[in-house]
Amino acid sequence: MSSSGGSGGSRGSGSPFGPPEPDIPQASLHWDRRYGGDERIWGDGPSELARLAVARLRPYASPELSILDVGCGYGRDARYLAAELRCHALGIDGSPAAIEAARKEHASALRRSREAQFDVEYLVSDVATLAADSEHAGRYDIVFTCNVYHLLGPIGRREFAAALAAVTRPGGLLFLSTMSPRDPEHYAKGEPVSGEERSWVDRVYLHFCTAEELTRDFSGFEILDLDERSYDEPHPGAATHHHTSWFLEGRRR
Ligand SMILES: C[S@@+](CC[C@H](N)C(=O)[O-])C[C@H]1O[C@@H](n2cnc3c(N)ncnc32)[C@H](O)[C@@H]1O
Repeated sequence: MSSSGGSGGSRGSGSPFGPPEPDIPQASLHWDRRYGGDERIWGDGPSELARLAVARLRPYASPELSILDVGCGYGRDARYLAAELRCHALGIDGSPAAIEAARKEHASALRRSREAQFDVEYLVSDVATLAADSEHAGRYDIVFTCNVYHLLGPIGRREFAAALAAVTRPGGLLFLSTMSPRDPEHYAKGEPVSGEERSWVDRVYLHFCTAEELTRDFSGFEILDLDERSYDEPHPGAATHHHTSWFLEGRRR
């Protein structure tokens, strides 16, 4: 998701190059290519959101906890959450190459350390499919989604927020990060999307939510914390990115 210049002109939601709606088929091509290149794009360590979730949840660590990581990529956070909280995690991603990479990384992490222990499964899927499946709907204690929301178009965001609420058990917690309009790395880079505020296409579609949008979109959750944070994101072999993102913690109503 590094910044690269666009070719000029604005892109509308209806064009074949417009924002990905309803997201998986079109957007997953981009991610398939990146994961297919065997890139551990953000390195081996957990994300800022995963560290925050573990700090918050450590007192509740238990094999009884169930975690769903939506848009898990190559699984760095799903493994970290499951290991630190000693529980089961399911990582899902719309990109088959992401899930293949996640399974490979899982096996090699186990090979690297005999002490490594994590109970994680990975599945090519999207949260709407899980929400419509009685085996998954309303089941998860913790739903976690790192840096996926800003990739979704307006309809996709609405559907995604509703599906996140549908898979979280009442009283369960949501941890979500998404880039803010103060993100110095990507905000206002590329081509603006016509008819939308704060959306650009720069290799991928990106939307930068305000606090008001997030509070509205996640009305299915009581917002416990909505904090804007700046942090460095490693990109092994390339320059570190500096980001400013929203970190949302919500409790399912
Ligand atoms: C920026 S990457 C973040 C990956 C991972 N959360 C991490 O931080 O390592 C976004 C991921 O979301 C996935 N994705 C995008 N839209 C999705 C959707 N609607 N459902 C599931 N995964 C999606 C992409 O395939 C990609 O792997």
